[in-house]
Amino acid sequence: MRIYAAADYEEMSQRAASILAAHVITKPDAVLGLATGSTPIGTYDRLAAMHQKGMLDFSQVTTVNLDEYEGLSGEHPQSYRYFMNKHLFERINIPREHTFIPDGLAKNSAEECKRYTALLHSLKNIDIQLLGIGSNGHIGFNEPSDSFCRDTHVVMLAEQTRKNNSRFFSSPEEVPARAITMGIGNIMSAESILLLANGKNKSDALFAALFGPITPKVPASILQFHNNVTVAADEEALCAIREFTRWEGKIYDC
Ligand code: GLP
Repeated sequence: MRIYAAADYEEMSQRAASILAAHVITKPDAVLGLATGSTPIGTYDRLAAMHQKGMLDFSQVTTVNLDEYEGLSGEHPQSYRYFMNKHLFERINIPREHTFIPDGLAKNSAEECKRYTALLHSLKNIDIQLLGIGSNGHIGFNEPSDSFCRDTHVVMLAEQTRKNNSRFFSSPEEVPARAITMGIGNIMSAESILLLANGKNKSDALFAALFGPITPKVPASILQFHNNVTVAADEEALCAIREFTRWEGKIYDC
């Protein structure tokens, strides 16, 4: 695992965009696993800017997103489909039929989970999976639990997660109670993983994920078992790691 320290959100986003861009340049038909939340917005802005300058071609790229709220249509402004269209897909030349996100409005969510898992298998490998981290250590919507779930599944969102994400909705009650998410096995089967974290409220979760015991109570801790993980984080998110490791530089290999 390699950790890049970024002074701030801008530098973290630049680093992440450069890593993703390198994948698209070296493999024009790359499969990118994408994430939502406030963390990757700056990364998507930079990828869109690179495309607009003629530096990046997404015409052969395929994307698969981690998750979607159950019950929200792609037109709902808080759905992850809407988010991806707005922050990335509408700004680059990716054919819409190359972009995959679980269907929050599927009549039968269990069937939708099976369909999404089968889709992931049919794509063979995700070349790089972008991840944020919840303040409780969740990845995608894999919440702290007693066991790791392998494939795409329906989850009850943790109260903490609904509270954190309520900032995007007009009231906390509007945050859906359930979501569909890629499983830990799906995430771990990616060739490489790029985990982003910024802000003080991520410091404890990032430390627990990267230096704590590997446990489903901190879902992101499973990443310690993956052999190609890159972390880009700002100084605030690195605070607990800096204190524990006494690391002072820009790159930490562990
Ligand atoms: C959501 C998403 C995650 C994301 C997390 C952190 O719950 N399902 O994929 O990593 O929240 O969000 P943010 O980046 O807004 O802190």
